[in-house]
Amino acid sequence: MTTFPIDAVRAEFPALCGEGAFLDNPGGTQVPQRVITAVSYGMTRAASNLGGYFRVSQDADRINELGHAAAAALLGASSGREIVIGQSMTMLTFQMARSFCRNWRPGDEIIVTRLDHEGNVSPWLLAAEERGVTVRWLPFNRETWRIEPEDLIPLLSERTRLLALNYASNMTGSVNDVRTLTRHAKEAGALVYVDAVQLTPHHLVEVQTLGCDFLACSSYKFFGPHLGVLWGREALLGELYPCAVRCASRSLPSRHEIGTPQTELIAGLTAAVEYFEWLGARTGGSGDRRSLIVAAYDAMQAYEHPMMVTLIEGLRSLPGVAIQGIVDPARFSVRVPTVSFVHARHRSRSLAEALGRRGFYVWSGHNYAYEAARLLHIDEDDGVLRIGLAHYNTSTEVMGVLQAIEDQIRAKIE
Ligand SMILES: Cc1ncc(COP(=O)(O)O)c(C=O)c1O
Repeated sequence: MTTFPIDAVRAEFPALCGEGAFLDNPGGTQVPQRVITAVSYGMTRAASNLGGYFRVSQDADRINELGHAAAAALLGASSGREIVIGQSMTMLTFQMARSFCRNWRPGDEIIVTRLDHEGNVSPWLLAAEERGVTVRWLPFNRETWRIEPEDLIPLLSERTRLLALNYASNMTGSVNDVRTLTRHAKEAGALVYVDAVQLTPHHLVEVQTLGCDFLACSSYKFFGPHLGVLWGREALLGELYPCAVRCASRSLPSRHEIGTPQTELIAGLTAAVEYFEWLGARTGGSGDRRSLIVAAYDAMQAYEHPMMVTLIEGLRSLPGVAIQGIVDPARFSVRVPTVSFVHARHRSRSLAEALGRRGFYVWSGHNYAYEAARLLHIDEDDGVLRIGLAHYNTSTEVMGVLQAIEDQIRAKIE
């Protein structure tokens, strides 16, 4: 197996050249130079509306088309017609909830989870309230840290119109068995809307085999610019009522893309996918675009795994640390390297401040995993201390942050 080219990887990311260990990757990742160059190219060469008869507009058209095709390749979609690009995952989901709910009737039911980020909860709650639809809450299992089919099944009925669930949690890092959960929901006749924001930076997404109907992610979490990306089954996207201006195009994918697209950011989205292809080739992959992407994910996962083990084992050995997520190494294939904990004597916020001063960039708070924090009785104001690794981090950074946390804890004890 090829050794992971960590130096070459880090050299791709200008922001990693400074001091400081960037460990807030679940909040948003750094970007490779090719993304910065592409955004700048989009602004320089293609700052125009789509569909014109002159070169700048034609360049914008091309960027838009390539961005959809790139996102389709990343998610394993059959074409760019299945991809809707918007400002963010949350904005897209609010918009989709508006479209979905037009067919809901009082007496209908929807299911949202207590593990999801609010971006996949609040839009559905508001839509349900507007249409008089009943909301059923799906908990997660506090021992497995996942959403389990036995908790879903009793909530499903012929009244269920939608299951909205996450693929990987931005608090616990657990990866749900979306395929099985989706199968149960589909048997009951519900649509399934998956939030893959936290999975996409770490694990390969295969929309064709997952069984769900919609899947959303955010490119700024996978080394790209601030955009939301939604995959939907082409037939469903084509039928779904578009919440758009009257005279906008009704063809796919623009049917659900409201207003003028952020062309320069879409250029950056393509470059982010090209970065995966570059990484796939550097780590021994070959073949077509999708094969290179698959190789990149294999390499990232293999590289991240031992760092995640070190981080979790190291945190577990520290007094007073309670990790909020899977800690059994035998189950690490169903978690991403997003690790949250609370400390018995330290506020998460003061730990985050102390670590920040020492050059370890981490986050504290409930991180919009609002229901999960409540279910876990985590102080709403203070939240957890979250450390999230990406494939450009190093074991030296992991050892460093562990040492810094230990110093903080010991300083208080002594
Ligand atoms: C799991 C999860 N879902 C949704 C979102 C929201 O994404 P966006 O910022 O694109 O709206 C986030 C952001 O942190 C997230 O972690």
